[in-house]
Amino acid sequence: MTEPRVVERFKKRTIWFHWIHTTAFLALIVTGAILFFPGLGAPAAGGLTRLIHRIAAALFVAAPVIYAVFNPRMTLHFIKETLTWGIDDFGWAEAAPLYYFGGGEEKMPPQGHVNTGQKMWQVIVLGTGVLFFISGLIMWFFKGTVTTEVFQWCVIVHDVAFILAFLMLLVHIYTGVIHPRMTESLRSMWDGRVSKTYARHHYGKWYDETSAGDK
Ligand code: HEM
Ligand code: HEM
Repeated sequence: MTEPRVVERFKKRTIWFHWIHTTAFLALIVTGAILFFPGLGAPAAGGLTRLIHRIAAALFVAAPVIYAVFNPRMTLHFIKETLTWGIDDFGWAEAAPLYYFGGGEEKMPPQGHVNTGQKMWQVIVLGTGVLFFISGLIMWFFKGTVTTEVFQWCVIVHDVAFILAFLMLLVHIYTGVIHPRMTESLRSMWDGRVSKTYARHHYGKWYDETSAGDK
């Protein structure tokens, strides 16, 4: 019999937010790539690509702002979690290569609500998010106001953020959807829950803290 998935990992609103934001992000990647690769310039010339990029950008910014306004504590917790690094993260980095290529779990230090790899993704998401926002805003609204040099810098910053975020997104999708060890990951981003065994094995520290009265 399969074990019931009773441990809440993500709230419904977080799941909605994740997929709405992902939709905007994917639209930005596709339209951004068309603008980025010179060979694809032809479809961009019509202006439709730029229009879709701007609509998606508005959603990409509005979604986290709305989420943060209605969930300030969860948002602050996310930011704090992203920026808090400790000795366990070194332990994870040391043990991770073996673990993700099929080695034993014994050397893995117990992780919090997210593991170090997920935290790295969160750093990329927050960091590139700020870079996209500032450089995108200048390119969008201040094209005629800033010097050509500043504008060129914005394009470079935007492009570096694009490459970083895109490459890390591939890792994020691989670990969330394909990796054989992350068996309950995708489902948890669908209905919010994982089994006790999965929670204990993947996020031991968090599971112990949140399930104190449950043992
Ligand atoms: C805060 C959200 C964002 C805003 C306001 C924004 C805005 C812009 C603007 C105004 C341009 C110039 C388009 C033009 O030539 O008319 C642009 C280009 C571009 N954007 Fe964004 N963008 C945002 C997020 C993103 C994201 C999330 C990605 C990809 C993951 C992305 C990828 C690109 C790329 C690759 C280009 C082409 C740059 C080049 O010409 O080399 N953008 N963006
Ligand atoms: C098709 C694209 C995507 C898929 C399939 C996907 C899948 C997932 C899954 C399965 C999880 C749960 C991980 C777990 O705890 O087991 C997750 C978490 C998360 N996702 Fe995504 N995601 C996608 C795109 C994105 C994008 C574009 C962003 C941000 C711009 C993002 C940000 C996050 C964050 C911050 C978390 C929580 C931390 C973490 O688990 O890494 N995701 N995603």
